[in-house]
Formats: sequence, C-alpha cells, structure tokens
Amino acid sequence: MKKIAVLTSGGDAPGMNACIRAIVRTAYNKNILVYGIQYGYSGLIENNINLINPEDVGNSIHVGGTFLKTARSKEFYTKEGRKIAYKNLQKNDIDGLIVLGGDGSLTGANIFYKEYKLPVIGVPCTIDNDIYGTDYSIGFASARETVVDAIDKIRDTAASHERIFIVEVMGRESGNLALESGIAAGAELILIPEKKYSMSDVVKKISEINIEKKSIIIVYAEGCRFGSIKKLSKSIKSEIKDSNVRCSILGHIQRGGTATPSDRILGSILGNKSIESLIDNNKNIMVGLVNNKNVINNLSIVVNKKNKIDKDLYQLAQVISNY
Ligand code: F6P
Repeated sequence: MKKIAVLTSGGDAPGMNACIRAIVRTAYNKNILVYGIQYGYSGLIENNINLINPEDVGNSIHVGGTFLKTARSKEFYTKEGRKIAYKNLQKNDIDGLIVLGGDGSLTGANIFYKEYKLPVIGVPCTIDNDIYGTDYSIGFASARETVVDAIDKIRDTAASHERIFIVEVMGRESGNLALESGIAAGAELILIPEKKYSMSDVVKKISEINIEKKSIIIVYAEGCRFGSIKKLSKSIKSEIKDSNVRCSILGHIQRGGTATPSDRILGSILGNKSIESLIDNNKNIMVGLVNNKNVINNLSIVVNKKNKIDKDLYQLAQVISNY
C-alpha cells in the first residue's frame, strides 16, 4: 500500500473530519500517501483528487461537516460512472479506497469492489445510526446532543404556555435518533417507524397523558408512517378540547455543529483502524466498534442488514417517559 484515497459521501456527519485526520496521520506514520477526493463519488468521477499532508488536517478534529465536501452521486450508481471512477483511481496509482458514509454510500463501495476488486474499506458515518456492524456510527452522538439541546429549549416554552409540542427528528427509516434523544430529553411520548401505531391510538395516548400533564413533548421520528406531524397536530386539536399544540421540525441543524468528544474519539479510532485494515490486506470490509472493541465486517453483509432499535431501550422509554 503506497497510496490510498479517501472520500466522504452522502449525508455529512460531525466526526467525519476527525476520522479523515486519523486516516491521514496514521497513513503518514506508515509511509503511505493519502489523497482526498472532493465531493464524494461525484468528485471521483470528475477526478477531483488531491494529496493531503498531515498538517492539512490540523485544527479540524472539532469541526462539523466534512472539509472534503460530499454529494449524493446518482452517476456512481451506473456502470459507466463506476468505470470512469475506477479509471481515475488507476490514473492516480491509488492502491486502496476508504469510503466514509451511510448505507447508500457503503452499498456503492460494495458494488465497486465486486466490479474492480480494488481494496475498499467502509467507515460508518451517519446521524441515523442504522448501519449494521457497529454500536454507533460517526455523527450519531453529536446529532443526539443537538436534538436533546433543542428539546430542552422547547420544553421551557412548552412548560411556560402549557402546550403540547410535536418535535420531528431525522433518522430516515430508523428510530434510533428519536429513541435515544427522546429518553435523554425526558419526552412524554416517543414515536418511531419500527412500531406500528394508528392515529387514534396515538391521540388516545396523548389525551391520557394530558390528564396529568399540560405541557407535553412528543418526539416524532421522520420515518413514521401512521400520519404526518401536521395530521397528528390536527387530530390532537380536534380530539383534545382546548389543547394548545405546536410543531417543531428540527431539520438540518441535526447534521451540523461541532463533533462531540465521543464522535471525535470514534472517528479517530475508526480512521486509524481503516488504515490498519488496508495494511492487513483486508479488501471489502467495514470497520466498527462493538462493546468498545474494534471489529470488521464484510461489506456484503453490512449492506444487507440494519442496526435495529434496541428493544430494551424502547421498553425502558415506555416505563419512564410519562407519569
Ligand atoms: O441520512 C442522513 C439524513 O440526515 C437523514 O436523517 C435525512 O432523512 C436525510 O439525510 C436528509 O437528506 P438531505 O440532506 O439530502 O435532505
């Protein structure tokens, strides 16, 4: 391994920069050059590849987002696009590729390896934490911190006005972010896509809580399918007389902000491990941390499984969230 390339793809996640920093500095220690690909797979197809020196990643460990930029590249999901991508890696004499991203990006990496057999290492980076093969993905802890901080602020105004607030949280099809943030923020009700609800059940539950509590925080994961927060708000207003309901969609603040210490550490550990894995001749794997232990999983397995909701945590939320 003399030259490797790294890219960040799909949704950005706080901690990606800490990971790139660890990749560059670990590689440098092993006399391996690191090339940064700007704008993810799109940049790879456009041959937007530049050498990164250890000093270039200074003062970046805390910075949110990704200084390599990112994109959601449709072109890479075409055979033609991947062919151009491979040619560009050959042109730059690249021996291995490290991909930081979520399930879509890791799926692309797996297909790319199958077609060209160039060693590929995946690093799980997504605020959704829906990636199989790691307890936490890079970015989740920071997003959770942002959501809890936002809900703490909303709770102040909810309590002052004795209002019911529905707070929509990201997570795509996964309820991990909503569940853990909801528990940490003391939400009275947490609604996640993994659980089947009907609108009437949910409204009935809220009216039961409302008997005791006038200010209520409901955490609603964006992947829920029983009805939009607008519909939920309308149903509550029509069912619960004199109810005072407000909706808050947290949106992309969940993706930004400085990386928490745990995301900086996770990014550093997985960045280092991804270089070690290339040196150890691993070819199509994802690095991860399970029970604080470094693990590697075959990418073909990772992209066909999901990091499911922690059932015990969900059960706990049922017990402690409303009184
Ligand atoms: O996968 C990360 C994520 O932030 C999801 O939680 C969300 O559904 C999606 O990306 C938003 O995508 P975009 O930034 O393209 O709007």
